[in-house]
Amino acid sequence: MQRSFIVLLCLGFVRATLQNYTVDDTSPDIQYGGEKFQCDANSCPPGVIDGQFNNSATLTTGSITFSFTGTAIYASLDLVGTCSITVDGDEIPSLTVTVAQAIAGVRGNISRSDLANGLHTLVIDPTTNSTVIGFDHLVYTASLPNKKSHVGAIVGGVVGGVVLTIGALFLALFARRRKLIIRRNQRKNAVLRGISSTRHDYKAGEEDATELPT
Ligand SMILES: *[C@@H]1O[C@H](CO)[C@@H](O)[C@H](O)[C@H]1NC(C)=O
Ligand SMILES: *[C@@H]1O[C@H](CO)[C@@H](O)[C@H](O)[C@H]1NC(C)=O
Ligand SMILES: *[C@@H]1O[C@H](CO)[C@@H](O)[C@H](O)[C@H]1NC(C)=O
Ligand SMILES: *[C@@H]1O[C@H](CO)[C@@H](O)[C@H](O)[C@H]1NC(C)=O
Repeated sequence: MQRSFIVLLCLGFVRATLQNYTVDDTSPDIQYGGEKFQCDANSCPPGVIDGQFNNSATLTTGSITFSFTGTAIYASLDLVGTCSITVDGDEIPSLTVTVAQAIAGVRGNISRSDLANGLHTLVIDPTTNSTVIGFDHLVYTASLPNKKSHVGAIVGGVVGGVVLTIGALFLALFARRRKLIIRRNQRKNAVLRGISSTRHDYKAGEEDATELPT
């Protein structure tokens, strides 16, 4: 009883952990809306090679769409031109990088955090014909339930208080049921003893009194 209560207490404090995942430009989860050219360390223009993830980058003049389940999204683009950026259709500041800036190493940074945990879609959309995007990878943050116990995984998203309330209710019902079973058994014993020996009726009553739970 006490042990199960401690387990329930622990479940009440299960926290979702945040984890970053890096998605490569070659991932099938990335949708390209236009012409694209995949390059590697040898074929990428200088600059796009810097900090390359998984030895590839994709150059494109079309849109980039990515759906993810989580709470945040980050990307740093090599860019010449202007892109509109939306998450779930909401515009976040568009990016503009001139040729001179690109040569100086300026990148277009995308950062959107504090999203409600769930499915979101990022769209990077060039707004001029001359825009070219060099896309290497992006990072999204997923909210994972604690994997230490199966029950923990199920209730991971549940607010601790709710779990504790359910736990307390369960314990109360369990205790009540036990008490009822003990009482019923005692009554049954008393009746049986009464049947087997009518002379010791008063004694059975005495025993019952000492065994009664508080
Ligand atoms: C995920 O990556 C972003 C950008 O690098 C960083 O700001 C954030 O703290 C990271 N989150 C986690 C949970 O590692
Ligand atoms: C790295 O790129 C290869 C194809 O070039 C792909 O099969 C693999 O899944 C990529 N790895 C990651 C971690 O994205
Ligand atoms: C973009 O992020 C990089 C680090 O990834 C940083 O060095 C750079 O200053 C940022 N650029 C802008 C315009 O904020
Ligand atoms: C983009 O180029 C096409 C022709 O290739 C032209 O018809 C269109 O107006 C241009 N769009 C913009 C926004 O400049």
